[in-house]
Amino acid sequence: MLEIRNITVRFGGVVALNDVSASFAQPVSGIIGPNGAGKTTLMNVLSGFVTSTGGSVTRDGQELLKLAPHRRAHWGLRRSFQKEEIADDLTVFENVLVQIDHGRSPASQKTDEVSRMLALVGMADRADKPGARLNSFERRLTDVAKCLVGQPRVVMFDEPAGGLSIDETRQLGALIRQIHAETGAQVLVIDHDVDLIREVCAETLVLDFGKRIAFGPTDAVLNDASVKAAYLGTEEV
Ligand SMILES: Nc1ncnc2c1ncn2[C@@H]1O[C@H](COP(=O)(O)OP(=O)(O)OP(=O)(O)O)[C@@H](O)[C@H]1O
Ligand SMILES: [Mg+2]
Repeated sequence: MLEIRNITVRFGGVVALNDVSASFAQPVSGIIGPNGAGKTTLMNVLSGFVTSTGGSVTRDGQELLKLAPHRRAHWGLRRSFQKEEIADDLTVFENVLVQIDHGRSPASQKTDEVSRMLALVGMADRADKPGARLNSFERRLTDVAKCLVGQPRVVMFDEPAGGLSIDETRQLGALIRQIHAETGAQVLVIDHDVDLIREVCAETLVLDFGKRIAFGPTDAVLNDASVKAAYLGTEEV
């Protein structure tokens, strides 16, 4: 259970998050909402880029907001960004390995773990390909593998399907659904692709202008009148 309580973030006059609470209890949970709703800001609060005025985020009895950002990563918090971060001059394997290179476990254990996660994301056959030569889907899959090494507890994806084709998005969805069983991590997914959210997230939080307007089982949330109204004129739900 990832418990988010009373998170508020202001940027000058903009209230990016307004007293948002949600208890994420499912292996994969979604966060949706129109542009500027506060979705990325919520992930930024969890990872420590942005500070909430009060509130708490707890998981396994740990208050995450009390940990410095690098300690949260060490604890097992992982995230991907709207634009994936892949080093062009490193191979796929090296891009993933650098995530855990500083850890204390033996080198063979680290390389085994990288191999296992590359197999999981379907990049094992391209482990030696340089970052510069990857297409956008390969970059995305490598970015996912980076989030999965080092015993993650919570993995957050910010618009992972951005720029992908329908078929690639479907493959990515199947991969995201496997993460909990394969690593034990709880997953949060932000995306504008409602089909992806419906497919992979058992529960979903909906934000609009920084406020929680719905939270619960994804199908019920997507049928909610206030959710439909928030999306009116912007997207199809
Ligand atoms: N660092 C910042 N400084 C000032 N304002 C910010 C900052 N980050 C976000 N905001 C503002 O906070 C609000 C929420 O932004 P956020 O990026 O969280 O939205 P979002 O739901 O992720 O939108 P999108 O779907 O477009 O990615 C917006 O009004 C945005 O302009
Ligand atoms: Mg965003």
